[in-house]
Amino acid sequence: MTAAVRIARAYTGRVKVIRCGFHGWHDWCVEVKGGIPKKLYEDVYEFRYNDLDQLEDLMKKHGDDVAAITLTPFGHPLHEKMQEPAPGFLEGVRELATKYGAVLIFDEIRTCFRLRLGGAQELYGVVPDLAVVGKGMANGYAIAAVTGRAEVMKGIAEGEVFVSSTYFGNSDGYVAALKTIEIMEREDVIGNLWEKGGRFLERLRGIISKYNVGAELSGVAPMYFITFKRDREGLFRQRRTDFYAQLIRRGVFLAPYHHGYICYRHTEEDLEEAARAIEEALAYVSEKYGEFKEEG
Ligand SMILES: Cc1ncc(COP(=O)(O)O)c(C=O)c1O
Repeated sequence: MTAAVRIARAYTGRVKVIRCGFHGWHDWCVEVKGGIPKKLYEDVYEFRYNDLDQLEDLMKKHGDDVAAITLTPFGHPLHEKMQEPAPGFLEGVRELATKYGAVLIFDEIRTCFRLRLGGAQELYGVVPDLAVVGKGMANGYAIAAVTGRAEVMKGIAEGEVFVSSTYFGNSDGYVAALKTIEIMEREDVIGNLWEKGGRFLERLRGIISKYNVGAELSGVAPMYFITFKRDREGLFRQRRTDFYAQLIRRGVFLAPYHHGYICYRHTEEDLEEAARAIEEALAYVSEKYGEFKEEG
């Protein structure tokens, strides 16, 4: 993402960045600011996912100085519920970027090779100027890629923008990516994730609805999350900790602050075991804390 922002700044000759979503540990975007001089992020502004009005206001104010709008096209913020784009949201972001001459960068590091082989942009039909991909592309091998329109990326080819690193030349990532993509296409891995994950999520929805503990399921079949709503007694953090700890006791690890994924490798038995553990963990939370009461 940092390389993509540098490319966008070189292409537009502008500095400001408007961003939405988690883009990693880098100086310009990390939420924990310790150790980072303010000047490295003072030209970066944040907008909320699905809040086109907020983006529009920011663009009215800063638009002519904005090099890039960056966002995860599918909403998967840290700790919080996942969100699909509201009708017209991604199209609106695209329009605003074009109107103000900013480079639109999609962070598809989690979504590409998962929602579709071509990422959220293929699923939702909105094409950015640059897209950054990684993770699923090589089934865990260390490789990521900045992709996009040649016109925007020409600064690299012409030597105006320099991007490199110690591990750039590592060929195992490239080989793993080619092989992974070949297998994904041949075995319709993405179709399998949607089909198997869809059934799993349906099952979880049924289980969660049985227990009034404030648990919520969000996301789509390949990527989903169980979060806990804020409650009147302020106990949602304890409910969450207990729920996830009880899962671990039953041999199932789901991250409490990060959504989960359905993998091609998951068997029906794996998912059945996970669903059973989730039901037991919810029953434990329900027994321990009693009925959930909405905050406010
Ligand atoms: C959506 C998203 N963007 C960006 C990053 C950062 O990737 P890296 O640490 O390789 O820069 C991550 C890493 O988890 C991510 O999930």
